[in-house]
Amino acid sequence: MENELQSLEAEARKGLQELTDAAHLEPFRVRFLGRKGAFSTIMRQLGSVPAEERPRVGQLANTIKADIERLFEEKKEMLSAGQGRRGVTTPDLSLPGRWPATGRLHPISQVMEETCQIFEGMGFSVAEGPDVELDYYNFEALNIPAHHPARDMHDTFYVSDSLLLRTHTSPMQARIMEARQPPLRVIAPGKVYRCDSDITHTPMFHQVEGFLVDKKVSFADLKGVLTVFTRKMFGKELALRFRPSFFPFTEPSAEVDIACVICGGQGCRVCKKTGWLEILGSGMIDPEVFRMVGYDPQQYSGFAFGLGVERIAMLKYGIDDIRLFYENDQRFLSQF
Ligand code: DAH
Repeated sequence: MENELQSLEAEARKGLQELTDAAHLEPFRVRFLGRKGAFSTIMRQLGSVPAEERPRVGQLANTIKADIERLFEEKKEMLSAGQGRRGVTTPDLSLPGRWPATGRLHPISQVMEETCQIFEGMGFSVAEGPDVELDYYNFEALNIPAHHPARDMHDTFYVSDSLLLRTHTSPMQARIMEARQPPLRVIAPGKVYRCDSDITHTPMFHQVEGFLVDKKVSFADLKGVLTVFTRKMFGKELALRFRPSFFPFTEPSAEVDIACVICGGQGCRVCKKTGWLEILGSGMIDPEVFRMVGYDPQQYSGFAFGLGVERIAMLKYGIDDIRLFYENDQRFLSQF
């Protein structure tokens, strides 16, 4: 009987250890401690133990049962304390407080605002235009006539023959120049659309367009303004280069690269081993664009640029997948 008692004790202790759900408390009690439970059943056999052994075995049985009862009560208290917190009983004043989450600006909005602020600091004013744009402003007025090969650069979402979702913010150049007279310093932030989707492209993204028109504006002015911008956005030490390029609405044209922020210019996967990352397109406004808005290209000159906001945000914050901006995952967004 002693052996039986000991194995029952071991079994009960193990059962208690594995008991983690308040719903299993009562079945345990019935099985081991109840009137018809394992302990009572064993105790009833005490009569068959030889008389001289009986007191010792009886005492052992009582001790073991009392131990298990005590452990059971402890477990019961522990599990019901855990439950009390969920139900409404007495409040636990030591729990940390809760406060409503505050909203914050999306990283794209932050970079767009910062970009605008930097240019506003240089005397530019902000203008916004329509996302659904006339083919005329998106292409024709920017020296990209129908069937011009440059239209291949844009995978356009057409709404009708003459209406489309703007593929860039450059139409704002034509709209504003048409409506106002120089001198002009304008930036135009907004959404743009292209039929494109992978880790560096989304069908909708953001650009900030900028242009300045006056008498005697030169490429040096463009360089100066964009150098101030990149230094303010990315830090003073960052190297910058202007690389000859082509856009139908600027002549000459240049793309601007910054030293790769990931590898510091050593060459890595992100910069495709070149050490440079393209951040914007720019150039001197093409005389043809001036003619179409009725400006005299002999009298006025100007520069323009268009930068990709997602691209700048990715480089500024070291983000390697553009789609993260549009998944609305709080764990991502709350870092900014
Ligand atoms: N609109 C061009 C694009 O989306 C970017 C651009 C290039 C804008 C040169 C400009 C410019 O104003 O001068 O790819």
